[in-house]
Amino acid sequence: MFPDTRLRRLRMNPQIREMVRETRLSPKNFIYPMFFNENLQKEKPIASMPGVSAFPVSQAGKEAAKAYELGVPAVMIFGIPNHKDEEGSGAWIKDGVTQKAIRSVKKECDVVVVADLCLCEYTSHGHCGRVKGDEILNDATLEFYAKTAVSQAQAGADMIAPSGMMDGMVAAIRTALDDSGFRNIPIMSYSAKYASGFYGPFRDAAESAPKFGDRRSHQMDPPNAREAIREMELDLEEGADILMVKPALAYLDVIRDARLMFNVPIAAYNVSGEYSMIMGAAEKGWIDRDRIMMEVLTAIKRAGADIILTYFAKEAAKKLRE
Ligand code: PBG
Repeated sequence: MFPDTRLRRLRMNPQIREMVRETRLSPKNFIYPMFFNENLQKEKPIASMPGVSAFPVSQAGKEAAKAYELGVPAVMIFGIPNHKDEEGSGAWIKDGVTQKAIRSVKKECDVVVVADLCLCEYTSHGHCGRVKGDEILNDATLEFYAKTAVSQAQAGADMIAPSGMMDGMVAAIRTALDDSGFRNIPIMSYSAKYASGFYGPFRDAAESAPKFGDRRSHQMDPPNAREAIREMELDLEEGADILMVKPALAYLDVIRDARLMFNVPIAAYNVSGEYSMIMGAAEKGWIDRDRIMMEVLTAIKRAGADIILTYFAKEAAKKLRE
């Protein structure tokens, strides 16, 4: 007790602070999400996400290599097709935008390619699955996810990340991958993905906003944390290798619960709205971008995430080199 105990003793200089630091960020924990748009001839900055652009597929390899050279081991690929239809068939065709982007990245460098798997970028209605009237069908969607996973693996994806929150999606994808000879391709499931307002800027970038209704019948209700444990338990039983919580910042408690409950790697997605809030406030001069970026990423790791998906990956990797 005071005056014998003085916690300030271990804060007196940077060397001591470094020595007793409990959480250390490394670029090796990052996955950099990237957008490739089949309609583009050149880079197009995303207005709602300063510092983030969509690129033509032809630049996929070069752009991914930039992240890799900064020490970021993995990229997550989102494709925006030039043609959408009712079923979202662009998601699984051999020459789909995502498949082309995956091939281009794999040709260029050894970065780990994680394929986001959803239909919302590919469907004319913008929903994550097949629809009937205004219902988003669960079981009928699974076969589309299964085909998409196989075509992404055939294109060279190193990991499949289903983000559609359909029940049974992990099992359907695992079976399809195994049956097609992709037993060693891991699944990182967006297990606890909440129906969040923080995805707003992403939907502009990915042109994936639903044309009617919303995603509340499949994504989780934000007030629920126990239910996230159930989602993660089920995904593990179905064969998920990595469990993801998304968004990250407003759900640090869920990340912590996941860390304490499960002995598999936990990923957290620091989503578009979380990124843009910081960039927006920094542009106005209200906050110090770099400082807050590092604080937030450290908080996500401290909460228990092993892997952080973040649009800050390249900037944070640069900062960590200093
Ligand atoms: C669905 C998907 C979304 C995000 C990642 N995958 C959007 C959604 O569910 O509407 C959000 C990512 C972000 O906001 O950064 N394909």
